[in-house]
Amino acid sequence: MISVFGSDIGPREIEAVAAVMRSQWVGFGRAVDQFEQAFTARLGLPAFAMVDSGSNALFLAIRLLDLPPGSEVIVPSFTWVSCAQAVLLAGHRPVFCDVDPVTMNIRREDVEACRSPRTTAVMVVHYAGLPVEIDPILDLGLPVVEDAAHAVDARHRGRACGGIGDVGIYSFDAVKNLTAGEGGGITARDPARIERARRLRYCGIGKSGFEAAAAGTGDRRWWEYDIAEAFIKMLPTNIAAAMAGVQLERLAELQERRRAVWELYDREFDGLAAVIRPPRAAQGDRHGLFTYCIRARDRDRLARRLLEQGIYTTLRYHPLHLNALYGQTGRRLPNCERLNDEALSLPLHPRLTLDEAARVAAAVRGFYAG
Ligand SMILES: Cc1ncc(COP(=O)(O)O)c(C=O)c1O
Repeated sequence: MISVFGSDIGPREIEAVAAVMRSQWVGFGRAVDQFEQAFTARLGLPAFAMVDSGSNALFLAIRLLDLPPGSEVIVPSFTWVSCAQAVLLAGHRPVFCDVDPVTMNIRREDVEACRSPRTTAVMVVHYAGLPVEIDPILDLGLPVVEDAAHAVDARHRGRACGGIGDVGIYSFDAVKNLTAGEGGGITARDPARIERARRLRYCGIGKSGFEAAAAGTGDRRWWEYDIAEAFIKMLPTNIAAAMAGVQLERLAELQERRRAVWELYDREFDGLAAVIRPPRAAQGDRHGLFTYCIRARDRDRLARRLLEQGIYTTLRYHPLHLNALYGQTGRRLPNCERLNDEALSLPLHPRLTLDEAARVAAAVRGFYAG
């Protein structure tokens, strides 16, 4: 089976994880610090903290904004469920908006179409890794959470995606461009927010008594600590951070392999009327190359035919407003609904060979020729 997703774990990742295991310090520790420093420097972020998943990073991001209870957060419908769950679980209401049918990204006009007096924030998602035109959205004056789960290597007008809005998140799950097995991270324009995030990710624990006792200050016993806020635990492990550290060093190489597949597909589908290729990044921007999402005529039959030929494709993602849970099934978001009928992610990952990609392209062309 040729899979739509995959990772490339090599001997260096294996050795880095083995070294953590040999050290017996497998939980949160030095490897996390090292990864955080390397990631911050590589992307040019003001501050960055690793957590145990991108989904939890989103939940943390919403918490960091301190929005009034029950207020509305605008979220594109064409995204992964965690974007909405983060809002809902933090005690707010996700209000789904449409996206551009070509870029598949949220636009300022989509935000304006569902802004209400209760709107307190906007979530933008760099879908597939294509940078969102974010400045016009920032100009609306609402806090912006930037989901860069697909965009770890993407840049927009000289800035790293994720680091442009008020708070930004990354995902390092098993199929992302940079994997830690499971993992995520959070950044913010104001570094004080990341200081707070460091407390929150450890059940909201602030100063530990150990630090005070070690410093010889106060009359605290070392097992006592201040609990600054109530929050859940989302600490990353040294195991995950060690793997992520090597993947970060290899990111350019991993992205190059994705780019070679992307360019092969672009060439193969040039002039094929039944397939609309994903857009390229704007001049001067860099695409994150997470998923090669085409819009295809007769999409369902194409996907089924590919599956019969051993090629696994998928739709990322079933529009959220169509899920009964959120009580918004009565709303019409025509572009998201159109993408729900036409969009299809083709295999793209760093272990996919060019021969396999050529087989995928030939199968797509064959479907329309037949
Ligand atoms: C757009 C988007 N946001 C957030 C996430 C959540 O990341 P994680 O899988 O690390 O929880 C994903 C995961 O697929 C995603 O695609």
